[in-house]
Amino acid sequence: MRPFHDKRVLVGVSGGIAAYKTAELVRRLLQAGSDVQVILTSSGARFVGATTFEGLTGRPVMQSLWDGSLQHIDLGRWADAIVVAPATANLLAKLAAGIADDLLTTTLLAAPRRALLAPAMNVRMFEHPATQANLETLRGYGHELVGPAFGELAEGEEGWGRMVEPDVIFACVGRALEGESNWRDKRVVVTAGPTWEPVDSVRFIGNRSSGRMGHAIAAAAWRRGADVVLITGPSHVPAPPEIADVRTVETAEQMGAALNAALTDASAVFMAAAVADFKPAAPQEGKIRRASGLESIAVEPCPDLLATAGRGAPDDCLLVAFAVELGEAGVDSARRKLEEKGAHLIVLNDPSEPGAGFEVETNRVTIIDKSGAAETLPQMLKAEVADEILDRAERLLPGD
Ligand SMILES: Cc1cc2nc3c(=O)[nH]c(=O)nc-3n(C[C@H](O)[C@H](O)[C@H](O)COP(=O)(O)O)c2cc1C
Repeated sequence: MRPFHDKRVLVGVSGGIAAYKTAELVRRLLQAGSDVQVILTSSGARFVGATTFEGLTGRPVMQSLWDGSLQHIDLGRWADAIVVAPATANLLAKLAAGIADDLLTTTLLAAPRRALLAPAMNVRMFEHPATQANLETLRGYGHELVGPAFGELAEGEEGWGRMVEPDVIFACVGRALEGESNWRDKRVVVTAGPTWEPVDSVRFIGNRSSGRMGHAIAAAAWRRGADVVLITGPSHVPAPPEIADVRTVETAEQMGAALNAALTDASAVFMAAAVADFKPAAPQEGKIRRASGLESIAVEPCPDLLATAGRGAPDDCLLVAFAVELGEAGVDSARRKLEEKGAHLIVLNDPSEPGAGFEVETNRVTIIDKSGAAETLPQMLKAEVADEILDRAERLLPGD
């Protein structure tokens, strides 16, 4: 999986309770196709055994400076990305001071690239001026700090100092591996999920969209360095945890308002949400009773959000539309939609095909551009479809 496939990731584990979570980070990296080498400090080994990491990675865990002649130099050169999770107060202090008294600190000092550091410690250790000064120094040296988060700590305390979850560290490693891209610092707005249009206080008209396609685009754009706003309708699939700006809405009208508010300064808008076309004209307060003899529900059109995006976005903003069409006529109808709405690309999917559309992890899409050229991609994971879409959109980005 891009950008992890065939990349070499060095994972340092120092001596904090959160070390058990690093096994999950290592598993995710391996699953995504990376080659992972773990270095354990001697305190780290008191929290998680080397056997756990050896079983996962199939490589011996490195623990001593004295096992090979120049491994502290070789390991840093070998790595495409370096992450330390958890990073103890002690490790941070040593790294800030340039102390190199074990394999991990020596490797970090000798490495040609800066590391991702995921601090984890008691709140008072974190808030201590010495730790704060060390963090500032490390930022100045170009290391990237991931967290810590606020939350429950060991011994029943609460505060800043909790290691961020492995999923977020995984995403940050992905961003480090991605390297330079034209998406860096560009504002990208993504809509995702279904909308729910109320019939009464307990019922709604909705659709089968899971939000996965929009979430995948938001995650891929974030990984490439974009500043992402994700506007999502109700979905049982959680939004990618690394996206800080998630705006949750329920109806098409609310999604339209959220979209309008987010469009200023947007460089690209991906309209992956399955927005309702019709909504009940007169939603009822309370619950409509069976005894009321209701025979039909009058509907009226929902706002056309693609048109809203076309009108509200800056002139040079890239507009990527999505269409769900069933059967053969889909391509022609998507071409018409692209033209009518002034979109730059349209992504067509047919949920009647196996492995495509709503509720599944994979998709099969056809991408149509302004010239009308249609490119049908093979079935792949939605995360991979997202990268294919972003690759094509990147060529059309404003200012590039
Ligand atoms: C039970 C226990 C839990 C600890 N948890 C942490 C922690 O979460 N964060 C931290 O910075 N230090 C923690 N420490 C202290 C470190 O293990 C200690 O500072 C050690 O010297 C760190 O070594 P290292 O940085 O080489 O791994 C803990 C110590 C013990 C005994």
